Amino acid sequence: MEDISLHILDIAENSVASGATLITISIVEKTREDSFLVTVEDNGRGMTEEFVKNVLDPFCTTRTTRKIGLGLSLLAQSARETGGDILIASVPGKGTTVTANFIPSHIDMKSLGNITDTITTLIAGNPQVDFLFTYSRDNRTYELDTRQICAALDGVPINSSEVLTAIREDLIEALDDIRR
Ligand SMILES: Nc1ncnc2c1ncn2[C@@H]1O[C@H](COP(=O)(O)OP(=O)(O)OP(=O)(O)O)[C@@H](O)[C@H]1O
Ligand SMILES: [Mg+2]
Repeated sequence: MEDISLHILDIAENSVASGATLITISIVEKTREDSFLVTVEDNGRGMTEEFVKNVLDPFCTTRTTRKIGLGLSLLAQSARETGGDILIASVPGKGTTVTANFIPSHIDMKSLGNITDTITTLIAGNPQVDFLFTYSRDNRTYELDTRQICAALDGVPINSSEVLTAIREDLIEALDDIRR
């Protein structure tokens, strides 16, 4: 996987596939503590304890189109390469939380990549799902909540090109600001 944003896209796609109606994506970066934490939380169908035990095995998948599932094992690999790890907490019928922590100073740390593309791709492709995205870096925080956006749109679809362009511009500006 090229970068962390593509991992996030992949993990959030699992949440979409699990029937989630709300997906919370958060990035918490603490530069002084050399810590970079990514969390994807959903209210989808969840997994049993037994399934979670095996889920990092690439041959563990409920996919029917091919016999390997790589999303979670690749994320685990990327996190572990930096000295971090992945944690999967899931309750059947309630939802799943995937947390990956990275150690940014490690030579194998991947770049965040294009998180704006990841978030807008998710929103564009899944207008029926609510997304809450938060990015915090030290004492600066940005939050994007599609429930708030939808409420303000007054019936205009969230995946219309005007709205997506506005969301994209807002993200770019806010993230520039946070990472300044
Ligand atoms: N958030 C989730 N909620 C419920 N089940 C999940 C979730 N994430 C993963 N799973 C289950 O774990 C399996 C493995 O997920 P993983 O992302 O590693 O591979 P995949 O989605 O099957 O294939 P790929 O990601 O390569 O397209 C999935 O097939 C699905 O059954
Ligand atoms: Mg997957």
